[in-house]
Amino acid sequence: MTQTPAFLFVCLGNICRSPLAEGAMRLAAQKAGLALAIDSCGTAAYHVGEPPDPRSIATAADNGIDISGLRGRQLASADFSRFTHIFAMDHQNLRNIENVRPSSSTARVSLLLDVVEGREGASIADPYYDGEERFGDTWEDVTSAADAIVARLIDGQW
Ligand code: 4NP
Repeated sequence: MTQTPAFLFVCLGNICRSPLAEGAMRLAAQKAGLALAIDSCGTAAYHVGEPPDPRSIATAADNGIDISGLRGRQLASADFSRFTHIFAMDHQNLRNIENVRPSSSTARVSLLLDVVEGREGASIADPYYDGEERFGDTWEDVTSAADAIVARLIDGQW
């Protein structure tokens, strides 16, 4: 049986990058008229239950999507069968994901920017310790990835 595509975006804290990736993916899916399962989480538990960083909320709002209702959660074993694609924001989190990946995992795990032509193998830098302007760069990165994912879905590749 072919599983319906379901996308999970993963960073460290689930308050800066992955909520922006979830928002960008929701926006791209909405624009394309696609109903998809989309979620985000962190490999660490530091911010479980917390809303996204205010700078992520502001950046998403500036780009037309409200992510203020999201709440941080940590990656769980069940995610590896619930989602067909699990995308890590950087190499450290890719390693963290691989370290807890159960043998029963059916998800494809990769770096998020692997879906963007010319950006394969690149990380999305952590903007947590930077100023709000860096969150705009994060938004551009996650939007280019979300658009590439939608293009693959429309193409029938996924
Ligand atoms: P994120 O950013 O992984 O993009 O959500 C971070 C948020 C919090 C921390 C690190 C990175 N922290 O150390 O609390």
